Amino acid sequence: MSEKIFVPPIKIQGIKTKLVPLIKQNISLSKNTLWLEPFMGSGVVGFNVRPERAVFADINPHIINFYNAIKTGKITSDIVRVFLYEQGRTLAQDGENFYYYVRERFNNYHEPLDFLFLNRSCFNGMIRFNREYNFNVPYGHKPQRFSRAYITKIINQVKYIEDCLRVYDWEFICQPFETTLAITETQEDTFTYCDPPYIGRHVDYYDSWDECSEEKLRCLLYEAQNKFMLSTWCSNQYRENKYINTIWSFCRKIKHEHFYHVGAKEINRHPVIEALLVNY
Ligand SMILES: C[S@@+](CC[C@H](N)C(=O)[O-])C[C@H]1O[C@@H](n2cnc3c(N)ncnc32)[C@H](O)[C@@H]1O
Repeated sequence: MSEKIFVPPIKIQGIKTKLVPLIKQNISLSKNTLWLEPFMGSGVVGFNVRPERAVFADINPHIINFYNAIKTGKITSDIVRVFLYEQGRTLAQDGENFYYYVRERFNNYHEPLDFLFLNRSCFNGMIRFNREYNFNVPYGHKPQRFSRAYITKIINQVKYIEDCLRVYDWEFICQPFETTLAITETQEDTFTYCDPPYIGRHVDYYDSWDECSEEKLRCLLYEAQNKFMLSTWCSNQYRENKYINTIWSFCRKIKHEHFYHVGAKEINRHPVIEALLVNY
C-alpha cells in the first residue's frame, strides 16, 4: 500500500510532494539529528520526515510568519475554521473584487491568515511577489473555492502542524541559506535537505537564483562535514543540467523521477527529470 503523504496548508511552486517517498527511503536520522531545511518552501519534505529536532528556514518571511503564528497559538485550527468560513462566504458573494481586497489588505498588514486565504484562492496556488515585495498573483476565478470539504481539509492540515509542534522541537526562521548552513559549524549531528530554486526558473523576488548562488551553496555544503541531500533537476527534453557534472560532480546521484511543471518558461513547461544528490 502506498504511504500517505501529508500535504501542508501553504502550497508553493516546486513543491516536492511526489519526491517525499524517495527522499525518506534514502535518509536515516537518529533521535538527536538536527534536520536543517534552508529552503523550506511548503515544508512538505521535513513535515513528512518528522524529525525530532528541526530548523525550517526560508528567505520568504510570510511562510515563516505563518508557521510561527501556529507555534505561538495566534493561529489555531479553530481560528482557521472561523476565518475561512467567513471570508469564503464573502468570496462566494463578491468574487474577484473580494480577492483583490484581501490581496491589498495582505500587502498592507501581512497577516498570516490572509496569506493562507490568498495562497488557496489565487491562480494555480502560486506564491509570487513583485519587486516591491507585494504579493501579485491574480485571482484563481473559483468563487466557490472554500467549500465545507475544502475548509475541512485545510483545518486538518493546520491540525497536523499543531500536533507536530506539541511533540517536536521545530523552529521556523526567516534567513538566507548561508545563515542556516552555518548551524552545521556548531552542531555535530545535522542532516541538511536543500531544495534551492532552479537557475533560470526565477518566478518571484524572494526566489532569485543564479550560478553565483549555486556556487556559494556548493562551497558551504562541501565544507560542512555532515550529510546533505540536494534536490535539483537533471534534464528536460531540451537540455541537461550541466551543474550536475560540474558544481555537483562530487555528489552521488540517487535517482530520477519525472515531473510536469507549469509556467511560462521552457524549463517549467515540459517533463523534467529530477535528481537527488547526496554526499554519502
Ligand atoms: C523550490 S522552493 C522549495 C520547495 C520545497 N522544498 C517544497 O517542497 O515545498 C525554494 C524556496 O527557497 C526559498 N529561497 C530562495 N532563495 C533563498 C535564499 N537565498 N535563502 C533561503 N531561502 C531561499 C524560496 O523562498 C522558496 O521558498
